Parts: sequence; structure tokens; C-alpha cells
Amino acid sequence: MRLALIYLVAAARPNFMKIAPLYHALRREPWCNPQIIHTGQHYDDCMSDAFIRDLGLPQPHHHLGVGSGSHAEQTGRVMMAFERVCLEQRPDWVVVVGDVNSTMAGAITAKKLQLPVAHLEAGLRSRDMTMPEEINRKLTDVICDLLWTPSPDADENLRREGIPPERIVRIGNIMIDSYEMLRERITAEQTGRALGLVPHTYGVVTLHRPVNVDAEQSLAKLAAALIKIGAMVPLVFPVHPRTRGRLEAFKLWGVLEKAPGVKLTEPMGYIRFMSLVQEARLVITDSGGLQEETTVLNIPCLTLRENTERPITITQGTNRLVRPENIYENVGQILAGQWPSGVRPEFWDGRTAERAAKSLAEASQG
Ligand code: UD1
Repeated sequence: MRLALIYLVAAARPNFMKIAPLYHALRREPWCNPQIIHTGQHYDDCMSDAFIRDLGLPQPHHHLGVGSGSHAEQTGRVMMAFERVCLEQRPDWVVVVGDVNSTMAGAITAKKLQLPVAHLEAGLRSRDMTMPEEINRKLTDVICDLLWTPSPDADENLRREGIPPERIVRIGNIMIDSYEMLRERITAEQTGRALGLVPHTYGVVTLHRPVNVDAEQSLAKLAAALIKIGAMVPLVFPVHPRTRGRLEAFKLWGVLEKAPGVKLTEPMGYIRFMSLVQEARLVITDSGGLQEETTVLNIPCLTLRENTERPITITQGTNRLVRPENIYENVGQILAGQWPSGVRPEFWDGRTAERAAKSLAEASQG
């Protein structure tokens, strides 16, 4: 008898931290055969292969090689290539993760072939339809059969949108499984020291959202803020390729590079990066995942966005939304020790993949 074939669709950097624990958990199950589909949305070694290696994943079973492009191009190319792979073997389940273009493309393609689809990290909402990710999240959730959520706010969002409650299963935050799985190696890595920094005395910066980096005026404002903060606390800024492209185009790269308190680096693999974050005094970011990781690590996080689809990181965690003009004063508060401690949300415990595997086994038995 054929084992249940499960496709795990991954595309971009943050997806690998979400599929890795699930892949490892499903490999231990006697009833199924998990396979990794890499759409190729991220293709540089530092955005893709470094994560595959760090997380102990095999080379993808199928690589769709879609690369970069406009939203429509990227989405369309994933759909065309993924349809062919689905038709070859007709998987018993397709699992899509997160909110990138490939998440939505994978879900639509599979559903139109009448394949059951699970969405891992379902129900998050920023209520900001100018974000491509919000469109991806809503479209994915409305068609998926199984919606695995990380937090009660996500359950509530789905219920309010009319999703039948039997489709919603709260399993927790799977990114934390990746962290717990690699905690010892992360602790041994000591990235900060290797960069000449003293633990707990520096800040980590990441920026890549179109709203922050695509327009010259906003990026210039952020660069100026970072230079000012760098004079107060040293900053390490691993630069996403999208952001690097924009910084170079606007002639801001050289300006930041020369700033004494700002160290620009290539994007880092998972273990190196989490080691850097784990020993940071503070984080300045527009990433979704980092808002969650800093909550678990109890590290103050300033999120350069107007909204967040992860409100639990504010209500229970260490996260605060800030504007470029307020970062400086918030950094001052953190350095003065005036920052609330966080509480780890329920089920952000490193056992989310186990719960996902159990839920999938139950759903497969029908
Ligand atoms: C994508 C996701 C975003 C996620 C982020 C994580 C969407 C709509 N956006 O944004 O939600 O938080 O990934 O990193 O799916 N590039 C490279 N090398 C790569 C990948 C990209 O140089 O390996 C450059 C290309 O110039 C590309 C640009 O980065 O055009 C943007 O890449 P893209 O995949 O379109 O979106 P991200 O900004 O990475």
C-alpha cells in the first residue's frame, strides 16, 4: 500500500524554519511520506540553501525554479510548475506555510485539482490590504481544508470570516520548534563575539518590507535614524537582497557602510543569525518571524510598521510598533531598562510540529 504522500511547499527564507520541524516530525510517522517542494522564490545560497543545511533538511524532492519577478509573474510561474508536479503523483495532502506569494499559489493550484490543503500559520491578519502578504493570507485561508493557527487571535479572525470551526486547529508557533531543535548549536555559535561585539550590548536590524525599503524617501529616513542610533548602541544589520538593491540604487549603501556604529553584513544562515539575536540587547525590524522570536527570547523588539498580524507579540511579548521618528526615544527606554518583560504564549513550546502531525493523521483518517 502506498504511504500517504504529503507535499510541503517552501519558497522563501522564513518558510524553511516552518517546514523543517514538520518534515522531521512526519518522517517519524509510519503512515506517510513527506516530500519538500521548493518553489525557488528565494534562490541565493544565503536566502535558501543555508537554511536547508542548518535545519537538517534534505535537498528538495522537487525544485520549481521560479525565481524573482512581479507578483503576477511569480504567482503564475509557481502555479504552472506546481500543477505539473501535483499531476505527476497526486499527493494526499499539500501543506503550505506562511504568507508569501508561493503560499497562495500553491494553495490555489492544489485546491483546483481537488487536493486537500493545510495552511500552517493560518489566521494572521494585519488588516492592511496594501501588504501583499495580507492578500496571500486571506486568499489562502478561505480555500484551505485545515487551518493550523499559532494563537487565539488567529482563531478569532478565522471564525469572524465565517470559516467553519472544525477546520481550525490551534497548534502553536512552529518557528519556535526550529529554535528549540537547534538551541544548543545556536548557543555555541557566538556570532556577536566573532563580529567583535560584546553580548547584550548591541542591536540587530533587519528591514525588507516594500513599504520601508522601496521608496527613496522612507529608506533615507530609516538610514538616518540607524546612523543616529548607532552612535548610542552598536548595530549589526544583515541586509536582505531586496534592501541591498534599494540601498545601492539610492546611494545609501556607502553612507551606512561608513557610519561608525552600523555594521552591514550579508544575510546570515539560521544558526548564525539566531545566535546574533539571542545575545542582542534589542532588535529593530519589520520581519514577522523576528517579532515572535524576540517574544520567546524576551528581547525588546521595535517593529517598524503601522500594524502587525502578530498582535500577541505586543499584548504578551516584548514587541512595540514604532515609526522612524520614534525609534531613537524607544531605544533610549530600552537601554535605560524601561521595557516590559514578555510571557511565552501558549503552545509556543517547541512541540507544534507534533501537534500538526497528529492533526494531519486525524484529518487523513477522515
Ligand atoms: C518575500 C515575501 C515576504 C517575506 C520575505 C522573506 C512575498 C510577497 N514576499 O519578500 O513576505 O517576508 O520574502 O525574505 O512573497 N532576491 C535575491 N535573491 C533571492 C531572493 C530575492 O536577490 O534569493 C531579490 C530579487 O531582486 C527580488 C527581490 O529580492 O526581486 C525581492 O524578492 P521577492 O521574493 O520578490 O520578495 P521578498 O522581498 O524577498
